[in-house]
Amino acid sequence: MGPAPLGLPRLHLRAIGSTNERARELAAAGTPGGTLVTAALQTAGRGRQGRSWSAPAGRALLCSLILRDPPALLPLRAGVAVAELADAAAAGAFGVSAAADRAGTDDGRSAAQVKWPNDVLVGGRKLAGILVEGRPQEGWVVLGIGINVAVRPSDLDAELRARAGSLGLEPEAVEPVLGSLLGRLQRWLEAPGEEVLAALRARDALRGRSVAWAEGEGTAAGIDDEGRLLVDSGGVRVALNAGEVHLLGAR
Ligand code: BTN
Repeated sequence: MGPAPLGLPRLHLRAIGSTNERARELAAAGTPGGTLVTAALQTAGRGRQGRSWSAPAGRALLCSLILRDPPALLPLRAGVAVAELADAAAAGAFGVSAAADRAGTDDGRSAAQVKWPNDVLVGGRKLAGILVEGRPQEGWVVLGIGINVAVRPSDLDAELRARAGSLGLEPEAVEPVLGSLLGRLQRWLEAPGEEVLAALRARDALRGRSVAWAEGEGTAAGIDDEGRLLVDSGGVRVALNAGEVHLLGAR
């Protein structure tokens, strides 16, 4: 018997603090890999770097997948899968999207980009966030993904409206988007590392741009074979492993 398909069993909740938190509890209690937790609303959604993640009820895909023995480059694999899904949505795979609601794209056709390590941007706006949390020593991680499927500008406060993107679809699209995401994840979790890196490099939102991180500033110079972000800074090439990178001069 092969591994269980991704997304089964599935626990769907109308409201929960954080799907990642619930999935972590389940994983720690021995729930098998492939198990998925979804919710229509999170009241304490978690983002990277200790930030919060909020989305209007029923208008975003909020999901957390338990993975046992996760592959290397997991956060990058997930970013590529979500970016590919965003392109499919822009091409009409889930119905016609409302141009006014869609993520700041001029024509809705520009390819989704990944801001290392895994923010998915469309038209420079953040469409989706990915949070990987886990206990490597216990052999499990939780892959949490939030995608603004049907979020309208009017759902967001002014600050978020300027930065957040949306697929511009209707709430009914959340389930089909989940189905498509699981299929793409299945493929990208199994893909050879070189293929993942090539796909990521083709979508690199930072390359050639001025960036800042906790210890410095420089020009992003691509992604190395270990999936690290390369930055040229003061004549030296640095490889960043983790952490937050800001685009300078960005919104
Ligand atoms: C980020 O800061 O970009 C990551 C955001 C991750 C949000 C998702 S929504 C589903 C899952 N549950 C959470 O509490 N967070 C992740």
